[in-house]
Amino acid sequence: MSRYASDGRHDGWLRISAYLALVIGLVAALALTASAAELGSPMANRTSSSVDLPDPTRVEAASLGEALARRRSVRAFAGQALLLAEVATLLWAAQGRTGPEGLRTAPSAGALFPLEIYLAVGSVEGLAPGIYRYVSGRHRLDQVAVGDARRALARAALDQSWIADAPVILIIAAVPSRTAAKYGDRSARYIAMEAGHVGQNVYLQAVALGLGTTVVGAFDDGRVKDAAKLASDHEPFALYPVGHPKTAAGGAAPR
Ligand SMILES: Cc1cc2nc3c(=O)[nH]c(=O)nc-3n(C[C@H](O)[C@H](O)[C@H](O)COP(=O)(O)O)c2cc1C
Repeated sequence: MSRYASDGRHDGWLRISAYLALVIGLVAALALTASAAELGSPMANRTSSSVDLPDPTRVEAASLGEALARRRSVRAFAGQALLLAEVATLLWAAQGRTGPEGLRTAPSAGALFPLEIYLAVGSVEGLAPGIYRYVSGRHRLDQVAVGDARRALARAALDQSWIADAPVILIIAAVPSRTAAKYGDRSARYIAMEAGHVGQNVYLQAVALGLGTTVVGAFDDGRVKDAAKLASDHEPFALYPVGHPKTAAGGAAPR
């Protein structure tokens, strides 16, 4: 066999190895992208501080009919902290994953899921004050910022000072491009409808947990975005301060 023939075989192996390395690299990149898409977030949003949430509590105490009948906007909160299990259940009601293909507790036009849930934490047992983002696919909170942002949010909401008394403020934000890519001009309408579905889930789940909330739509978008440290392409749609309703005696209703 000539030297040239032997070199040719060597070159062939080199070429096959290079192809294999390329294919393995592509498969790894695709797997990472798919996993990030499943979480509904850019990989860069994952911080070192993540909190795995307890399973949502299935509240048997209130039937759907009772929760609907008792739903009322609550703007006066007792000073009592929330439990992590209560927060986990509220977030699950808002955007929890309930189906193998990433389907959730609330409907979404084209299953494109443009909504992101942020949480401004002030007083929750087992959770440091700060801003968190709910990762639906993992039922997890990723910390976005450290520190209590409730007063800044109340100021951003046209000085509705009662907002800062709630132990947590849930924020519905949207990434409009996710829906606009398919639905164009109708996407604004669809996203607003979706935020409404999520908001009613939050209201009813709050009632079922013995908690209360009010949807807040009156705010300065830019200031809420700053205070809640929303990602640049995330637009605020509504705030939901949640806490124990203050009773006439000034305390919290019993758990
Ligand atoms: C789109 C929207 C925006 C709202 N914005 C505010 C708000 O900024 N501040 C507030 O105190 N209540 C706000 N509310 C709550 C309404 O005032 C409340 O739903 C209404 O008074 C009816 O009372 P109920 O929810 O107890 O039935 C808003 C409600 C909706 C639907």
